[in-house]
Amino acid sequence: MNLSKEYYKHKSVLLEESVRNLITNKNGIYIDATFGLGGHSYEILKRISKKAKLISLDQDKESIKKNLIKDKRLHLFHSNFIYIQDILNKKLFIEKVSGILADLGISYFQINNPKRGFSHKLNCILDMRMDQEKKYSAKNVINESSYEKLSYIFKEYGDFNNTKKMVGRILEKRIIKNISTSSDLLKIFFIRGSFKERKRFFSRLFQSIRIEVNDEINKLKNFLYQSSDIIEPGGRIAIISYHSIEDRIVKNFFKNGIIFSERKPDKIPFKMIHKKVIKPTYIEVKKNPRSRSAKLRIAEKL
Ligand SMILES: C[S@@+](CC[C@H](N)C(=O)[O-])C[C@H]1O[C@@H](n2cnc3c(N)ncnc32)[C@H](O)[C@@H]1O
Repeated sequence: MNLSKEYYKHKSVLLEESVRNLITNKNGIYIDATFGLGGHSYEILKRISKKAKLISLDQDKESIKKNLIKDKRLHLFHSNFIYIQDILNKKLFIEKVSGILADLGISYFQINNPKRGFSHKLNCILDMRMDQEKKYSAKNVINESSYEKLSYIFKEYGDFNNTKKMVGRILEKRIIKNISTSSDLLKIFFIRGSFKERKRFFSRLFQSIRIEVNDEINKLKNFLYQSSDIIEPGGRIAIISYHSIEDRIVKNFFKNGIIFSERKPDKIPFKMIHKKVIKPTYIEVKKNPRSRSAKLRIAEKL
């Protein structure tokens, strides 16, 4: 393996805990569904044998292009993880794998790039597409969604209770002029309170728009269903999530084999490996504050 120093600067979240628990067969086939800057992939490659394989995906083309890992065992694809079964069956002629890891959300590289429009701290065009080949962006969400749709997005994906005023302000402003940049959006809201409270408000606002742009909840549900078909008995799935909606979905699926209130299947496909969710240590959060909301759940296929 040949890695540049860039990899060591980037801090992968819950790296040791996720990879240690994922690998049950050193000669197996593994999937890293969210390659990002390759931190988890690199760690998996270090711990599997020469005969093993790693299939990594990311829907962000720039992340794939930035890859620095040179290793014959790595098969890297630009793809949304909802196509995982197709990639395995049709491109690689593989049916089952020993483990799947997904580190959801966005990478350090995406959030810090003003051209990608993910951050409320940078003045940028409202974009937030993880897959830049898609058309639907944050600008479309803010300027074209109905009152009801914006209320749903803010409530469901941002945990806002009272959305009436928020949505009203957006609708008022966008009649006069399109809301195009992060600072246009920030200026709409006058948030009383401390710097921390304002930061929390805008983080939740931007998060909710990003989830809508990338249809993150539906994609996760679809991916979980496929994962349970792909993993061989005794193999594991490890998911790192960053907000409560994702974590609730993952927990319920691992525990009950369902996403919400569907009928429970006759056979639950997984057993939880740890009763309690795994969170970053105090030291990890100190070194990498962005890890503070991370939650890792691991399950084993029965
Ligand atoms: C938190 S980062 C992963 C960081 C990576 N584990 C590392 O250590 O470098 C999340 C990555 O997942 C990708 N991603 C998010 N949702 C995805 C999906 N549905 N399909 C494929 N990639 C996705 C994002 O583009 C982003 O690069």
